[in-house]
Amino acid sequence: MNANTSSASPSEPPGSANNPAPDPVADPVNWEARYVAGDTPWDKGCAAPPLTDFLARHPISGRVLVPGCGPGHDVRAISSKGAEVTGLDLSETALRFARDFPTAGSEIYEQGDLFALPKEWEGQFDWVFEHTCFCAIPPERRADYVSAVSRVLKPGGHYLAIFFLDPGVEQGPPHGANREEIEHLFKGSFELIEEWLPSSAFEGREGQEICQLRRRRP
Ligand SMILES: C[S@@+](CC[C@H](N)C(=O)[O-])C[C@H]1O[C@@H](n2cnc3c(N)ncnc32)[C@H](O)[C@@H]1O
Repeated sequence: MNANTSSASPSEPPGSANNPAPDPVADPVNWEARYVAGDTPWDKGCAAPPLTDFLARHPISGRVLVPGCGPGHDVRAISSKGAEVTGLDLSETALRFARDFPTAGSEIYEQGDLFALPKEWEGQFDWVFEHTCFCAIPPERRADYVSAVSRVLKPGGHYLAIFFLDPGVEQGPPHGANREEIEHLFKGSFELIEEWLPSSAFEGREGQEICQLRRRRP
């Protein structure tokens, strides 16, 4: 299955007069440009510590979607435990980096837009794992995000998330969210099973994250 992307294809090559190359600093949400420029401070070179802790105590099996997977560290951590994992990202360069890593298990990477997923993905996944995608999208698209992750999950499928509560920046991304907003967004489509403050985090993110395990309502 191939994910579509809604990005427009420029008719002129990047960098030409009519299609100036994006400036990754002036346009922080041009993800492809950020990867091309190597301007990726979110890439810590390994899976998120709260995910590693979760995997040590809880199996994740079946088909798993990781939206906004970037170079795929979380994808490989999950697939190394036996799940079939699809890493999705807008950025082809991020996915090239991901594919350059040795295969950890049954993982694949698809370029595409979470907001324009193929119909055949609907109801196909047992799990969605969220880490630094929700905080990367424009906050006004959060309801669309919840619809997208809900649609791809099987009824009763699990949604595991590490949310940024307070990224400590004036202007995102990353865009923080508080517990009340998260609950308001998710409660219609997902029941909350467990919520916890992670006991480990990347340096600088301590105390800024909250983990939730949810189940898609039938
Ligand atoms: C802050 S980065 C985090 C990447 C990865 N999760 C990590 O922690 O290294 C956000 C990622 O989300 C991707 N992204 C943003 N909007 C997206 C969308 N609408 N669909 C798919 N991926 C998206 C970006 O390309 C980028 O790789």
